[in-house]
Amino acid sequence: MEARVTAHARYTIADIDKRLYGSFLEHLGRAVYTGIYEPGHPTADENGMRRDVLDLVRGLDTPVCRYPGGNFVSAYNWEDGIGPKSERPTRLDLAWRTAESNQVGIHEFADWAKAAGTEMMLAVNLGSRGLDDARNFVEYVNHPGGSYWSDLRRKNGQADPWNVKLWCLGNEMDGPWQVGHKTAVEYGHLANETAKALRAFDDSLELVVCGSSHSDMPTYPQWEATVLEETYDQVDYISLHMYFENYEKKTSEFLALPEKLDRYIGTVGGVIDYVKAKKRSKKDVRISFDEWNVWYHERRSDSKRMKEWDWPHAPVLLEDVYNFEDVLQVGCILNTFIRRADVVRIACIAQLVNVIAPIMTAPGGAAWRQTIYFPFQFASNHGRGTALRLDVDCAHYDADIAAGVSYLDIAGVHDADAGTLTFFAINRHGEEAMTIDLCVEGFGKAKSVEHTLIKHDDLEARNTKDAPETVVPVKANGATISGNGAQVTVPPYSYSMIRITL
Ligand code: AHR
Repeated sequence: MEARVTAHARYTIADIDKRLYGSFLEHLGRAVYTGIYEPGHPTADENGMRRDVLDLVRGLDTPVCRYPGGNFVSAYNWEDGIGPKSERPTRLDLAWRTAESNQVGIHEFADWAKAAGTEMMLAVNLGSRGLDDARNFVEYVNHPGGSYWSDLRRKNGQADPWNVKLWCLGNEMDGPWQVGHKTAVEYGHLANETAKALRAFDDSLELVVCGSSHSDMPTYPQWEATVLEETYDQVDYISLHMYFENYEKKTSEFLALPEKLDRYIGTVGGVIDYVKAKKRSKKDVRISFDEWNVWYHERRSDSKRMKEWDWPHAPVLLEDVYNFEDVLQVGCILNTFIRRADVVRIACIAQLVNVIAPIMTAPGGAAWRQTIYFPFQFASNHGRGTALRLDVDCAHYDADIAAGVSYLDIAGVHDADAGTLTFFAINRHGEEAMTIDLCVEGFGKAKSVEHTLIKHDDLEARNTKDAPETVVPVKANGATISGNGAQVTVPPYSYSMIRITL
């Protein structure tokens, strides 16, 4: 099969906000306890944080990390996680039916985030709590001193404020499963009043209001319209979530799901424009896609187990073991975000460690990279710069979710500072190799080209504790300079990163 892709220096989408490669850590299962935090572990630092995990997180170069939830945040009292650890209460977490020891709270997470080289994106509880709790938390985190909450932070050992800019106004408030679930009008009103109070403290905060939990919600997309009508002037982002599953779908159907993601983004972009026009506003609201990933491998058995268990602390939960097929899917999802970089400014892979995550740990033992670690790492490390509007000429197929799905899923990024053009390409054809002609114009002459490939003959191949390198990227020899661009042949069902140095 042949594909022809044209990139021109003048055809751009937007400058990519580096926070497109954000991540998410929730107090859920073993994400925190025996994930990032395990005081007795041989690699633990003086704060009890696992250095082996920190190294793998740094490898992803994720610029922002959302915390502490997720569903967890909607019944969370942040004050339980401050002060001497021995005095912190154990609470029941209603979202996941577990016990929360509170040995990790905002201080420990802030230290971890600094060590990981990532900024904090914090969520306030608008489920069981509200405006007052939110403004106290923001004061605790961001005020230098001389007030009740900021002085308490200082007393607890943190003299300088953390100056967190990005705040989520609750989590998935459209979901009936959410503690304190609300209607769009109720939530919109509360979010607006909370945003006003936070802005009275600091108008430069960036605030994220909850959109739909996914695009199959019965309230979607009216939820977005109502919530934005209530909050438009006060918020900067609307949050969307989407998880991808493959319960007995053909791979071609599974890999077509990003078309649904694309439509979801397009629709919500339209709703934002509608509310903007209705309000005669000059201001733009953008999308924060702050939960996305493949999630299904353990989902049904987890729901069953959860109903039966007796409030365990840090149990195995949502520990999906990803396969090679998921590499292709994660590559297509990230490409969709790059192609929508004009409206999607923040996106967070959900989650980061152990819980539907690229990084796994064994308690007391090793940490390793799941298959999906690699496409995320490549996009985050090399997908910075300007997103290019590519012209793609390739055969396509009809899937249940959409007609005309291109066998080639590709996104291109120009990094003017580094002098590179990077293309992330997924061959969605299961039998045919594909020769891709990359015609690039207006960037000057291509000097060299590198091709990195992720390929496995078994779509089910996984990285595990005992075989952590089953699916890994390799340097391929197949790419050559051709004219101003390059030509590369990629195998069936494969992920490629093609980097042209200008
Ligand atoms: O990431 C797992 C869960 O998925 C989050 O807690 C929730 O926000 C979403 O439903």
